Amino acid sequence: MTLLDDLSAIVGGAFEKAGLDPALGKVKPADRPDLAQFQCNGALVAAKAVRENPRALAERIKSILSDESAFSEIAIAGPGFINFKLDDQRLVDCVSETFCAGNAPGWRREQTEKIVVDYGGPNVAKPLHVGHLRSAIIGESIKKICRAAGDDAVGDIHLGDWGLQMGQLISELQLRSPELPYFDEGASGPLPEEAPVSFKDLEEIYPAASAACKADPERAELARKATKRLQAGDQGYRALWRHFVDLSIAAMRRNYDDLGVHFDLWKGESDVDPLIPDIARDLSERGILETSDGAKIIRIERDDDKKDMPPIIFETSQGAAGYHTTDIATVVDRRDALAPDRILYVVDARQRLHFEQVYRAVDRAGYFPEDRLEHLWFGTMNGKDGKPFKTREGGTLKLRDLIVMVTEKARNRLAENDLAADFTETETEEIAKQVGVAALKFADLSNPRTSDYIFDIDRFTSFEGKTGPYLLYARARIRSVLSKAQAAGAGAPGPISISCDEERALALSLAAYPDIFRDAYQKRLPHFLCEAAFDLAQAFSRFYAACRISDEDNETLRASRLTLASTVGAALDTTFELLGIEAPERM
Ligand code: ARG
Repeated sequence: MTLLDDLSAIVGGAFEKAGLDPALGKVKPADRPDLAQFQCNGALVAAKAVRENPRALAERIKSILSDESAFSEIAIAGPGFINFKLDDQRLVDCVSETFCAGNAPGWRREQTEKIVVDYGGPNVAKPLHVGHLRSAIIGESIKKICRAAGDDAVGDIHLGDWGLQMGQLISELQLRSPELPYFDEGASGPLPEEAPVSFKDLEEIYPAASAACKADPERAELARKATKRLQAGDQGYRALWRHFVDLSIAAMRRNYDDLGVHFDLWKGESDVDPLIPDIARDLSERGILETSDGAKIIRIERDDDKKDMPPIIFETSQGAAGYHTTDIATVVDRRDALAPDRILYVVDARQRLHFEQVYRAVDRAGYFPEDRLEHLWFGTMNGKDGKPFKTREGGTLKLRDLIVMVTEKARNRLAENDLAADFTETETEEIAKQVGVAALKFADLSNPRTSDYIFDIDRFTSFEGKTGPYLLYARARIRSVLSKAQAAGAGAPGPISISCDEERALALSLAAYPDIFRDAYQKRLPHFLCEAAFDLAQAFSRFYAACRISDEDNETLRASRLTLASTVGAALDTTFELLGIEAPERM
């Protein structure tokens, strides 16, 4: 039970004794932390219904609670708000139960689910864009948040490995090197194990192919034909395609590893291609698939639709399956292979209509209930020009370049702040990378998921303000405070006891954590955790400025403060883990 649940149950009990609905006793953090710690607005809500003066009603609730040990103070404010201060011992118990007893983040679902998280979604051979970057960062965090809440969450990268870009690539290579054995029509001999091109070559071939197809309709037709021949199972094309996919995956793995993003499944659109004929048959037999202008479509509009809901094109008049089709087949595949209770899609906002269409279609077909498919969409990371962020060269984003860029910036920032100065070069470099990646990830995650934000590397890498580097530094400082205390013979940590406002404020921030975590889980909003971490770091700073630790004479206080410091450290570690941020031991 979280603290707010606990308090709400107590205050709800008082409302019940007063003959009212216990739900009115909902307790939340005070809007005015200078006046109170917690508040309940239930008396105001109830007063209208029971025609009683709200202040009088609030007084009644207060007197029912007069023997309650959880609160050290209850006061009525304004028209009938009930304000509470928590009893210090209760506060300490709450912190100890969560963090000292190893129960962080302090809340778990009663009934857990099997969840597939579909995130990342890069396309083979095509460059990444910021949507892919955000998807990877946010998806990784959401997967970890689900796991910490008890769910069995599986992350699937869902590679775009089956579209027109594959035909563009193959046809380009065929034009350049027609002598390669992959292009012998009808040949069935063994094909080389070694790829005919490197990943670097692919990085050049794809943009050239894509530009050529854009410029010349005949060239585009070649690409379309190649895509069709690939999808029809041509042996040489398939072998070539496999090489392209393998090369891309190897490169992606390295980049995602650097970013601290790890997928359990590396499945792709191509994996579900074999399922499509059966699905088509099933849908046709049940009258769900209709023919319209030579194409096969699924209608998904509903009577109460407020906006246009165009049908899904399941198969074009040329017989090709598109993006909707692979997504429908992927739902079926996941249902059969993993039996998930729910699938989360972390994909950018521009695909909202796409997912709504897919969800309606699979629901209509009875494949998967729509209310268990969630599109966790997000806004764009823009450059200072307000357009989707691009690297300085103007090209689309390369993850590798971005990581190099933030690492370099972090290295300068460390030097400016005289941090990680007398470490070995290897360690400094490792720290610079961790700080750079943390800056990037924290900036992304601390913005509300659904908003756009501006990529501002100077701000992201600053050691001041709500940034990744500030938090990593705060964490490293807590470690160093503790190890210095150890070295100074400060003794063992002991039970928390609260002797001043700064300690109380720090304990309150810690006690708030499980509720914040639950909110982050239920709303799938990692930025709540970023706020919590920032709040903890600031509360620690104030505590550290006001309170002695290793040189505190009172042994009980000294032991308590050691515990408080290590508990904040543990809470920050929990947060970094949930956000997918790696923190250096020292800096
Ligand atoms: N590859 C897609 C793109 O680049 C993203 C895939 C998202 N996931 C999905 N199941 N459709 O836009």
